[in-house]
Formats: sequence, structure tokens, C-alpha cells
Amino acid sequence: MTTIEITVTDREGVTTEGVDWDSDESLMECLVRNGYPILATCGGNASCSTCHSYLDEASFETAGEIDEDEAAVLDSLLDDEREPTSRLTCQIAWDEDLAGAKVRIGPF
Ligand code: FES
Repeated sequence: MTTIEITVTDREGVTTEGVDWDSDESLMECLVRNGYPILATCGGNASCSTCHSYLDEASFETAGEIDEDEAAVLDSLLDDEREPTSRLTCQIAWDEDLAGAKVRIGPF
């Protein structure tokens, strides 16, 4: 297993650097393991939106394409919640190139 470090900002605006993301986890699983309050009620199947978060622009590009199911969920978010770099973190696979990613947890 390989681990990269990312930076996470929680819903209170507290930023933590050096959050470990293991190669066998989705980004959602990494956030949950590190104690962030992500409900993941659909279990990571791109259907609940509780894992919605924002990436920095470079990481958004690196994270790759948004598939149809994820796009449909993102489209259902409120306008003031959706941002250009919104993603469902359960759909983001570990990638060495995401080391240093900045992730801001989305609102409830
Ligand atoms: S965990 Fe439900 S959409 Fe990601």
C-alpha cells in the first residue's frame, strides 16, 4: 500500500495538512477514516451526495472525468452548493498525482 498526503478543510473552516490517503481507499473512505463527518449513506455508489466536496483546480483536473451517475447527483445540488470543482469524493480513486490535493468538505 502506498500513501499520499492531502490537505483538508472541514465545514468549520479548519485546515489540516498531512492527511494520509492510502492507495486502497477512495477519497471518501480516506476522509471518513480520518474522522471527517461524511455520512456516505449510499455506501459510495454516487447516489446520496453526502460525500460532496470541493477540490482545488489542479486536483480537479487530475481526478478525471465525471461519469453520468455522478453528474446527475451533482446536478441535483442546490445552486449555491455547486461549484466548478465540486465532486463526489466516493468517485475519486487514489492517484499518486493527487498528492498535495486540497479538499474542502461540502455542506450538509
Ligand atoms: S457516498 Fe453517496 S454519493 Fe458518495
